[in-house]
Order: sequence, then structure tokens, then C-alpha cells
Amino acid sequence: MSDELRPMRWWDIEPVMSIEESVFESTAWSAAQFWGELAHDDRAYVVLDDDEGVVGYAGLMVRPPTADVQTIAVAPRARRRGLATAMLRHLLEVAEASGCREVMLEVRADSAGAVALYEMHGFEVIARRTSYYGPGLDALIMRRARETP
Ligand SMILES: CC(C)(COP(=O)(O)OP(=O)(O)OC[C@H]1O[C@@H](n2cnc3c(N)ncnc32)[C@H](O)[C@@H]1OP(=O)(O)O)[C@@H](O)C(=O)NCCC(=O)NCCS
Repeated sequence: MSDELRPMRWWDIEPVMSIEESVFESTAWSAAQFWGELAHDDRAYVVLDDDEGVVGYAGLMVRPPTADVQTIAVAPRARRRGLATAMLRHLLEVAEASGCREVMLEVRADSAGAVALYEMHGFEVIARRTSYYGPGLDALIMRRARETP
């Protein structure tokens, strides 16, 4: 098994969409949204490959002094192997190298695994938006301040 982290390209959108639709269902992004994201030069998107192809992806919007984690997902077959951790660490390094003082994100409140992942990396819940993703689907707003001044 060789997992490789690399920049997301337009030809990755099709395999990314297959993970996106199975993971996020009613709140999945469209392919057009991914095309739009890749068209912005203030975005940093990565994918991870394993022997079967794209297995995870993540994206960051970089607008110093703030960066925003746009998305992160790993195919169910490859979870709990540290892949999201590797992608998140990379995005945090990009934010730091770009001079961002804080990293923000929104996550579904019922995504316990994602919330645990983010808390492990120093994110704290700063707000809750009721029914942000639809009826009964709350969002948590999380923030991670830069450790060094
Ligand atoms: C959240 C997600 C990206 C984690 O991916 P992953 O590659 O399995 O995560 P990692 O292996 O790097 O996990 C790192 C740590 O996060 C925590 N974690 C991850 N998934 C968890 C889960 N389902 N339940 C509890 N803790 C979890 C654990 O502490 C884990 O460490 P451990 O395996 O040593 O216990 C993946 O489960 C996913 O794609 N979920 C659906 C999409 C989503 O909710 N994305 C976030 C919102 S944009």
C-alpha cells in the first residue's frame, strides 16, 4: 500500500466526486463546485492515492491572516489509517507558511469522527449554527489559532 499526497488536478474530480457523493450524500458538493474551487488561486487542494486510486482529498482557502478548511474526506475503506491526519497536517503547514494566524472550519455537528480529528489538531468549537446544513443538521464553527506569535 503506497499512499501518496499530491495536488488535486481537474482529472481527479471524477474519482473525488464518487467519494464525495457516498460520504456527504444530500450535502455533497457538485463537480462544478470542485471545478470552481480548483480555479481559485487562493485554494490548496490535495488528494491521496493508494493502489486503487484516489482515496482521500482535502482543501484549504488561504486568505491571510485566516485560512479555511473547505473539506476533508477519506473513503470508508481507508479510514483510521492516519490519512486525514496527513492531509490536515499538510493544510496546516500551508496555512502557516502563508502567514495565516488562524485556521477556521465548519463541520457537521453529528460528524463525531471529524470533530475528534480536528480537536486532536488544536481546533476549538467557537460557535454552533442551527440547521445550517438542513433541518436538524447543525454546523459547528471551529478555530485553531497559530501556536507561535
Ligand atoms: C473524518 C475523516 C476525514 C477521518 O479520516 P481518517 O483518515 O479515518 O482519520 P485518521 O485515521 O487520520 O484519524 C485520526 C484520528 O481522528 C479521530 N477519528 C477519526 N475518525 C474517527 C471516528 N469515526 N470516530 C472517532 N474518532 C475518529 C481518532 O482520534 C483518530 O485517531 P485513531 O485512529 O488513532 O484513534 C473520515 O472519517 C471521513 O471522511 N468522514 C466523513 C467526511 C467528514 O465528516 N469530513 C469532515 C467534514 S468536512
